[in-house]
Amino acid sequence: MFLSTMCETNNGLEIPYVRVDLHLNIISELGNPAQFTFKLVDGGVNGIIIYRGEFDEFYAFDRTCTLWPEHNEQVAEDSEFSGIFTCPECESQYLLLTGAEPISGPATFGLKQYYTVIDGSLLHVYN
Ligand code: FES
Repeated sequence: MFLSTMCETNNGLEIPYVRVDLHLNIISELGNPAQFTFKLVDGGVNGIIIYRGEFDEFYAFDRTCTLWPEHNEQVAEDSEFSGIFTCPECESQYLLLTGAEPISGPATFGLKQYYTVIDGSLLHVYN
């Protein structure tokens, strides 16, 4: 008997395209990289997670679970472990520190990533 756990439809590529072009005044709110502070902002398909990996290195990920993008399920911060986001439907867990790759559950593709660049005192998040 063949049991497939591959019910993913997106291959990491089919998160719908939504134009992202944000200039955010949140750099100071993201604090010191060692504090591992992240911010949730509107935008993308289901909101965007932004965190600071290094002093001048920022990451932005769409909150859409990659298992079934058409479910439009928004990953939420794990209540026990900081930096882990969980899909409320399939319970796939994504770890920000590893580029939002899945660490448990059925998803095999990481959260969709957006570009970031420091623009003066603002953080430009775009695709
Ligand atoms: S989105 Fe329905 S499975 Fe995570």
